[in-house]
Amino acid sequence: MDLELSGKVAVVTGASRGIGLAVTRTLVAEGMHVAAGARTGSAELTGLARDHPDHVRPVLVDLTEPDGPARLVEEAVSAFGGLDVLVNNIGAVRPRLDGFLAVTDDDWAWSLGINFMPAVRAIRAALPHLLDRAPATIVTVASVNSFLPDPGVIDYSAAKAALANLCKSLSKEFGPRGVRINTVSPGPVETDLWLGEHGVAAAVAGSGDTDAAAVVKQQAAAAPTGRFTRPDEVADVVALLAGGRGGNIAGADVVIDGGLISTL
Ligand SMILES: NC(=O)c1ccc[n+]([C@@H]2O[C@H](COP(=O)([O-])OP(=O)(O)OC[C@H]3O[C@@H](n4cnc5c(N)ncnc54)[C@H](OP(=O)(O)O)[C@@H]3O)[C@@H](O)[C@H]2O)c1
Repeated sequence: MDLELSGKVAVVTGASRGIGLAVTRTLVAEGMHVAAGARTGSAELTGLARDHPDHVRPVLVDLTEPDGPARLVEEAVSAFGGLDVLVNNIGAVRPRLDGFLAVTDDDWAWSLGINFMPAVRAIRAALPHLLDRAPATIVTVASVNSFLPDPGVIDYSAAKAALANLCKSLSKEFGPRGVRINTVSPGPVETDLWLGEHGVAAAVAGSGDTDAAAVVKQQAAAAPTGRFTRPDEVADVVALLAGGRGGNIAGADVVIDGGLISTL
């Protein structure tokens, strides 16, 4: 299937690892030019840029800084001459295992500062360019926690709910002007966020009488498919929403969770 992305330009935030790296790989395989934003980069992203020098531009920038997202967007426009697709992917979680009363203002500010504000700022910087090249698209990686509130990740859940709400509002304002805006909500995905040294599994295991592998096994078993989603599977959904073949999908939230969410 031709996703109608070839030759177009994308910005991907949080592109050095996990879902963002997979999205970058998939969009490049579809023939796109990608400005790939991350704070510290990775050998994988550097290798991708070396293999596809005309299609991948790593941009090392702290996207939690107020001017970070705009710098990434401007780098994409100056490198590739415009912008057709914005993928808001940056995000992070810190499990709150001591309950709501232990979550401080600084914790809330951190969570909103990494999960919500970078998307607000990236969208604000990108929209003038996307409107110039409409039809254009924005795809934002939310989470099942945006509608599956969880006290163990209470600030992350609230920040992701805000993100999904923001994108739905924006789909109404900018859809009529040719910018389709959608979200993707994954359940647990095989990335460092869950499986890394400081990931969710390790944190949950550290607070109880178990190990990270057992936490992962139990979480995987909660989904009818019995496993986590792979980053490339999320990337495929992002690519479908980003391209012309998804041309009448707007204001939607696409869940990819192996059936974890059990309600309609
Ligand atoms: N993994 C899951 O189970 C899961 C489930 C649902 C939703 N999600 C969402 O999916 C998105 C991606 O998650 P992931 O699992 O792929 O995470 P990940 O593996 O931890 O990767 C996070 C990416 O964000 C970048 N990043 C972090 N802080 C940054 C900063 N201040 N400035 C610039 N870049 C920064 C990292 O780059 P550096 O290392 O260079 O900083 C990295 O490329 C997040 O929004 C997350 O909430 C994940």
